[in-house]
This record gives sequence, C-alpha cells and structure tokens, in this order.
Amino acid sequence: MCSIIGYKGKNFAAPILVNSLKRMEYRGYDSVGVATIDEGKMLVRKGTGKVAEVNKKLDMSHMLGNIGIGHTRWATHGGVTDKNAHPHAAGDNKIAVVHNGIIENYKELKSELIKTGYIFASETDSEVIAHLLNLYFNETKNIKQALMKTCKRLQGAYAFVAVFDDGTIGGVRYEEPLIVGVAKDGYFVSSDVLGFLEHTDKAIFLDNGDITIVNDDKIQIFDFNGKPVDRPITQVAWELGDIDKGKYAHHTLKEIDEQKLSIVKAYNQEEARMKKFLRILRAAKNVYIVGSGTSYHSALVAKHVFGMYAKMRVEAVMSSESKYVLSFLDEDSVVIAISQSGETADVLDSVRLAKSQGVKVLSIVNVTTSSLARMSDAFLGTNSGPEIGVAATKSFTAQLIIIYALADRLCRGKLGLDKEKLIHAVDSVLSNKSTIEKLAQELKNNKDLYLLGRSLHYPIALEGALKVKELAYVHAEGIAAGELKHGPLALMEKNTIVMILNPHDTTFNDTISNAHEIKARGATVVGLSDQKEDVYDYWIPIPALSEEAFYPIVEVIPLQFLAYYLAVGKNIDPDYPRNLAKSVTVR
Ligand code: M6R
Repeated sequence: MCSIIGYKGKNFAAPILVNSLKRMEYRGYDSVGVATIDEGKMLVRKGTGKVAEVNKKLDMSHMLGNIGIGHTRWATHGGVTDKNAHPHAAGDNKIAVVHNGIIENYKELKSELIKTGYIFASETDSEVIAHLLNLYFNETKNIKQALMKTCKRLQGAYAFVAVFDDGTIGGVRYEEPLIVGVAKDGYFVSSDVLGFLEHTDKAIFLDNGDITIVNDDKIQIFDFNGKPVDRPITQVAWELGDIDKGKYAHHTLKEIDEQKLSIVKAYNQEEARMKKFLRILRAAKNVYIVGSGTSYHSALVAKHVFGMYAKMRVEAVMSSESKYVLSFLDEDSVVIAISQSGETADVLDSVRLAKSQGVKVLSIVNVTTSSLARMSDAFLGTNSGPEIGVAATKSFTAQLIIIYALADRLCRGKLGLDKEKLIHAVDSVLSNKSTIEKLAQELKNNKDLYLLGRSLHYPIALEGALKVKELAYVHAEGIAAGELKHGPLALMEKNTIVMILNPHDTTFNDTISNAHEIKARGATVVGLSDQKEDVYDYWIPIPALSEEAFYPIVEVIPLQFLAYYLAVGKNIDPDYPRNLAKSVTVR
C-alpha cells in the first residue's frame, strides 16, 4: 500500500529517492516524504500530494546527503495530512522511519511511550516504531539491539526502513515485502524492485523476520534474535523501459494497448513449469481458486472454463472470504491463488490458511519475485511486465490466457487455444477504441451503469463494473442476466443504461430476451456483441470467435477502454484513482 525506500551510497540520496518514489508511486499516492542525513544532521521534508507536486513545493530532490529514506503513503491510520506523511522522526531528529503495513498494537505502545514522556506528532500507527527505536537505542547505544528489541514489541504486518544520524540504515521485513538492491556504488532497501531497478538488477529478497543493517559500505542480515542469516543475490529480469509511459497520456491506456503483446507473453510458458503445475493440479480432488478484485474475476472465469472443457469442478473463492470458507480443507485439495502483485494481504492469508492444512498451493502471478510466488509449490508467471495503472488491465487478460492454456491441456486440446487467432481478435478490438471514446462522451454524465452477462460473460460484467467504478467513480453493477427478473428489473426505466454482453454463443438467446425486457421498460441498451441487433441503442462490435471460452478476452477490452475514457472525460487521472493503491497489502 505504501512504498518505502532507503539509500546509502556514493551519490546524493535525495534525487535518487525522489525518482524511485515516482516509480513506486502506484503503491500509494496521498502523501510523500524524504529524510536525508547531511553531515550528521537529519533533514526531513514531507507533505500531501503526489511525488511531483510535493517535490515541486518542497524541492525534496535538492536535499543534501548521500544517505536517506523515502515514502509514498496510502493512509490507513490517520488522515491525509502533512503531519501524518512519513518519514516520522524521533529522538530530536536522530532517527527517522518509513513504514509499510499496519502495527496492530500501536495503541498500547503509544500510551506506554506517552507515559514515558514521548510526544507524538502524528496520528499514525507508524510513529511508534520511531519512538521505540529511540527508546531502545538510548537504552543499549546499539542500533542492532534497538532494531531487534523494537521488532519484538511490534504486532501486525510491517516492513520499515529507519535512518540514524550516524548514517546507518536499518530495514525490517515482517509479512510485508522488503528487498535490498546491491548497486556498484551503494545499497537500496526498498518495498519493490522498481525502486532500484534503474541502478541495479541485483537484489536480495529478505525473508520474513529478517533485519538488515547497511553501514560502513557493507550489509548485514540477521533474524529477530540477532543470528546472521544468508540470503542469496538474485538477478532481476524486468526491462526498465516498460515502466515509462512513452507516447501515452496514461499508463492505463498504454497497458490496455499492450495486451496484443502481453497475451503472447502469457502464452509462452516454460514447459517444465507448466508440467509441474499440471501434475499437482491433476492429482487434486478438490480445487479452490482464490483471488481479490480483478484476479477474483479471473477465478470465476476459470471456474467456468475448467468446468465446461476439462469437466473439472472448481470453486472460486474471494480471498477476503477464504477464512470463512476454506478453514476445513482435505489434504488432497489444491488452492490456486491468482494475483498480479503477489503481495495482496488477503491472497497471502488464503495461501497461509491452505498451507497450514497441508494443502498444496499453485499460483498464477505477475510478479514472480513476490511473496506469493515464493510461497507456492509451483507457479506460472503471467509475464505482463510492470503494471503501473491501479486498474488491472493487461494482467487480467494474461491471467485468462494461462487459464485457457491449463484448461486446454486438461482437456487434451479440445479448447483449441490458437495464439494467432486470439492476437488477431485482440488487435481488432484494440483498433476500435474511437467507437468507445465516442460512447464514453455520451455516457459520461450518467450516474449508474448496469452490465449484464450469463455464464462466462457474468465475470466480465463484474469486471467491467469494477473498472468503471474505480476509474470513473460511476456506480456500476455487474448482474447475472438470469437474475434480472429476480429483482434488478425494478431499476429499469428511462435513462437507465444497460450494457449487454451478448456474443452469438450458447448464452445468446436467453440474453437477447433480457435485452428486450429491459428495452420494454424504456432503458437504453448497449449491445457488446459480434452481431448488431435492432434492440441495441448502441452497438460495440467484437469479433466472432470459434470458441465461446475466449469471448471474455475480447469483451473486457472495450470495457477497459470505456472506463478509461469515462475517467478522462471527467478529468479524473485514471492511473491514480482516489482512495486506492495498486497492491492492497493490508487487511
Ligand atoms: O495484485 P492482485 O491481483 O492480487 O490485486 C487484486 C486486487 O486488489 C486488484 O485486482 C484490484 O481490484 C484492481 N485495482 C482492479 O482493477
């Protein structure tokens, strides 16, 4: 949710940190701050707004010193204010801390610290870390001891980076990611490899319960009891170029357009990985697929595709609901976790729950260095490259491609996944964006949008509604078309806009009847279909496909465009929708 970074090296820290924060801003973007140490003196600048805005106002990138920490925030405890922005300093600016996660016992710690005389400047849970470090440093005069003692007091899920006025940087990982970047002329400690990939592709992925200290041009890693631990240096593979918007106005539009390429990358799976994944899957008696948000919608598509083609019964479970549903698994069950980031707290909780019952975990994940990939018995990478826009777009269609590839193997090719045909179909919907742009102009003042679909199209109705809600702040609802007469029909009247996901497949006849029922109540019908029908007031054409399983791919792209253009038409920045963050690492 927040991004944290520390740097200690031969260069000025502040410009490096500001640049890194811009790259990681998708993780949280309501406030930002930097602290540096210059000649033994701590400098802190922070404020509300996006990195570029705050930097313009406070000129953070010109702060002096070659040691520093930085943060972008997604508020959990305490409002979006300058004071609540990180870093939080303690001990008369001897120590400053940036934190990602939640300290669950902060209230007790805070009242204990206040009784000891500490004064809090913010309403955040994070500030307790700074004061605890100060307390234990004063007690022990030893940074390692101060870090260890502090960690033992904290409950919750957290990663933090602290800077001390002697120039030491300390970092801790506990249930939130933290990665050390090893560059030629310095070290980074960051919540995401994007924080340092511009400077080095050499990374040390800290494990849960690791503490790191960067000092005297070297790095130490040890556990909460002070015992040294060995962590290998890994080479990180992502192309830096992928992080830039290039000619595009927004990352979101770029990422929608990239789908022609990203579906191919998802299709190209390493055979050995695929085989391992399938071996575990085939051995399972019960299969549960978990995910959140868009990734949950992929799970719903998988449920249909695995059922229709592989005759495999699977359950799709929202990760946030899994603790109520998956707490009594048989050992011969398998949980498949789907996630773009691989860091979503609810997804990781589902995985821990599964593992605690001896169940194997498979994952479909974009960030293959993530906690999810590491926790899985086998994983398949969606290979989408960095997805910066908060809305999941290319990662969703990549997840679907992997689901199709798995189903195709499970049913011995009956699905007939044909890469070339799919690319052609995706290309044709991508080249039709101007139709959607015009439609978005016409719909932009509407307050509600309903999307209807049956079978495989229902998850896409949900996904389209999610995109429209999060990007354009328009109330949107995905409805299973067959449920219309059980309630939602009461909402249909003049000025109601309903999108019907209605290709010519086994769902067509039933869904077209729904379109007529809606039209008869005076509502406006937008048909998303491979064929024009009189009942449609507007028609969004999609190509006709040989197999109905693949329609979700060509249906969702126009809906992504619609959400994007609705947002742009309303002057909303689609890359950074209000109140959201790219990966939700809190519960
Ligand atoms: O990284 P994940 O796939 O686990 O993220 C899950 C959801 O938080 C994510 O899909 C979210 O719903 C997106 N903002 C939707 O566009």
